[in-house]
Amino acid sequence: MSRFENKVALVTGAASGMGRASSLRLSSEGAKIHAVDVNAAGLEETAKSIRAAGGEVETTVCDVTNRQSCFDAVEACVAAFGRLDVLLNVAGIVRFSHAISTSEEDWNLQLAVNLSGPFFFSQAALPHLLESEGNIVNVASNAGLMGQAYTVGYCASKAGLINMSKALAMEFVKTKVRINCVAPSGTATNMIAAIDFPEGLDDKLMARYRGFRPMSQADDIAGVIAFLASDEARAVHGAVWEADQGVTAG
Ligand SMILES: NC(=O)c1ccc[n+]([C@@H]2O[C@H](COP(=O)([O-])OP(=O)(O)OC[C@H]3O[C@@H](n4cnc5c(N)ncnc54)[C@H](O)[C@@H]3O)[C@@H](O)[C@H]2O)c1
Repeated sequence: MSRFENKVALVTGAASGMGRASSLRLSSEGAKIHAVDVNAAGLEETAKSIRAAGGEVETTVCDVTNRQSCFDAVEACVAAFGRLDVLLNVAGIVRFSHAISTSEEDWNLQLAVNLSGPFFFSQAALPHLLESEGNIVNVASNAGLMGQAYTVGYCASKAGLINMSKALAMEFVKTKVRINCVAPSGTATNMIAAIDFPEGLDDKLMARYRGFRPMSQADDIAGVIAFLASDEARAVHGAVWEADQGVTAG
């Protein structure tokens, strides 16, 4: 398939997990990739893999919590490739904690990375996406659709991301730009491996979000992201696409 021939995609969170998998996936289907992450070494690994497979990639080290850096990354992309067709807001973090003892720092950081970052990138990208009739895919979470214990900041940030996407979808509904969310459940990436669980969690509450099926792999989610970002999904706008092994089904 070459659904992204002559298209340029900017991917945040591209150093790892779903961001890396999506970068490789879109590149394998013809996209030029502008890979963005705060992790320079991981970004280089992603770029190496794309180039080894014959793809074209540029990188920008960027902390998505810094508005100016987000705008600079979009400008660097357009300067390198001359256009922007797809913005994938994938960068994200999670912090587990009991609600009452959640620190101000963890609360603010999750909102900054998971919600403000995608908004800043959207602001910077939309003028270019209007020109290219492109689209945005935001990676939310099942935690944005349901209350999940011990992740109050994460849930709030992902629910915010979902409604931010819908608000943008409505503001641009008369244009050809599309804006959608993917909402994965537990997926085997560094994020899951790095979770620091606090003492005293009630596993009965946690089991609800694990669901019944095995965890997804990053590639499984990249496939859904690629579909939504492609012209095949031209009828999909303002949607939240669950990719959660049935976790939110009931
Ligand atoms: N893994 C899961 O179980 C799961 C489930 C639902 C949703 N998600 C969401 O999927 C997305 C991708 O996560 P993943 O599972 O691939 O995790 P990951 O940790 O493998 O990748 C996340 C990437 O985001 C980058 N990042 C973090 N803070 C950043 C910042 N301030 N600026 C720029 N980059 C930053 C990290 O360096 C990393 O490369 C996230 O938005 C996450 O919330 C993950």
